[in-house]
Amino acid sequence: MKILFASSEATPLIKTGGLADVAGSLPVALNHLDHDCRLILPGYPDVLKKANDLQHLAHVEIEQEPTPVNLLQGSCGPHNVPLYVVDAPHWFDRPGNPYLSPEGLNWPDNAERFTLFCRVVAAFVMNRMGLDWQPDVIHANDWQTGLIAPLLSGEEKRPATLFTIHNLAYQGLFDQATFMRLGLPDHLWSYTALEFHNQLSFIKGGIALSDRVNTVSPTYAEEIKTAEFGYGLEGLLIHRENHFSGVLNGIDYHEWDPQHDKHIAAAFSAESFRKKQQNKLALQREYGLPEDAHIQLFGYIGRLVDQKGVDLILQVLPGIMDSGSQLVMLGSGDKDLEHSLEKISNRYHSRVGVFIGYDEGLSHRIEAGCDCFLMPSRFEPCGLNQMFSLRYGTVPIVRRTGGLADTVVDVDPTSLANGTATGFVFDNTDGSSLWGAVEHAINFYRRSSTDWEILARTGMQQDFSWEASAQHYLELYQTAIDEPGL
Ligand code: ADP
Ligand code: GLC
Repeated sequence: MKILFASSEATPLIKTGGLADVAGSLPVALNHLDHDCRLILPGYPDVLKKANDLQHLAHVEIEQEPTPVNLLQGSCGPHNVPLYVVDAPHWFDRPGNPYLSPEGLNWPDNAERFTLFCRVVAAFVMNRMGLDWQPDVIHANDWQTGLIAPLLSGEEKRPATLFTIHNLAYQGLFDQATFMRLGLPDHLWSYTALEFHNQLSFIKGGIALSDRVNTVSPTYAEEIKTAEFGYGLEGLLIHRENHFSGVLNGIDYHEWDPQHDKHIAAAFSAESFRKKQQNKLALQREYGLPEDAHIQLFGYIGRLVDQKGVDLILQVLPGIMDSGSQLVMLGSGDKDLEHSLEKISNRYHSRVGVFIGYDEGLSHRIEAGCDCFLMPSRFEPCGLNQMFSLRYGTVPIVRRTGGLADTVVDVDPTSLANGTATGFVFDNTDGSSLWGAVEHAINFYRRSSTDWEILARTGMQQDFSWEASAQHYLELYQTAIDEPGL
């Protein structure tokens, strides 16, 4: 099968969150299964700099587009996933990240930027550039690619379309004047297409007009069909129920492998679990905390945004401190949260280490060195860090939501008895519910290092590689081809 995978980010070229991990690893898994999956990305400076062997492929004529656009061809990452890059310097050659200026503000022309991206992808797959490769399926991801299916919806002989929701909280909403300015076909301004409460919604376009729609875990697929998580799109998702499903993400087992991880102090596996301690000591040293293998070490990595429940961690911090444990954190985002974290690391400098920023290597060392990983998300479409944690024998403490609920088995008498327990799960979005799980983890850790090791090693033996999920995606592509959903 020939698949074009359209994304606004992909590791190792450009990343702001988990979408990049998925775009960097699902195509590799599909190609290993002998399919032909190729990536298409916007030409940000990092993409142009880091892609392998980029060459000019075609000049692209796009309606409404006054500035030159070129399509480049090369490959992405160590597995050389075939890559196309939309080189439009006027829109993409900027500092900052794909969506924000260096000052942290949304680029004011994001609607124009990602409309251009979608228009180029649509022209590509309708063979308007005279290329010798055409996909059977176009797999679009998140709001930045939400206009691809609408732009193709009137076309005969279009490829099948799949739209994946990685996070319904980011929708690409703009006013009607923007819709007019973009020069999109008039008929798309309709409640059955892009119009959402008198606004232009990119994500609605992907959901309403793709042959198949999925999100990144079975539980989140159920949650977003309710008013609590659906942001007003729950009705549409219910309407599309027969063509909408949840497919759990995998993780990159080569990049995240405690036996061969170039970022960590000591390689280890479930069989040599004790060697994990050396990573703990190294991490304590790196954060300037007292080095002591017996102190229980908690970790957090992630974007500092409301979704992740970092405020709940702040609420349980006094309890963690009273227990004598340590905490290391890595993240960036919301300035108020960044300040709060810096404040607590000053206040508890011998027990709490905070690094504000983005650091790939440190994220590996945290996963390798901690005993427990905190992930108290308010909602979590899938979440990758709890899976990295399981693979590194770092016991996750998670809220029962989205992909967290689908990947962590709570420690209770039954799961302990049948050997399936992998972490601590709590229900409510409040400090006392999180504290219940943290206190349980603290007591469990103290009671018996043997039981703790069994718990951590059970996590390490779970399989969250891409193989099974890639197979699910292939089935989705095939049904989208055989039975178009529109
Ligand atoms: P989301 O996509 O909502 O941010 P995920 O758990 O799916 O959440 O993915 C987040 C990804 O970004 C993970 O690979 C995580 O390790 C990484 N990450 C987040 N913040 C940082 C950071 N400050 N430094 C390094 N990696 C980070
Ligand atoms: C989103 C979600 C996260 C998910 C990731 C990759 O950013 O917030 O839960 O793991 O996409 O699908």
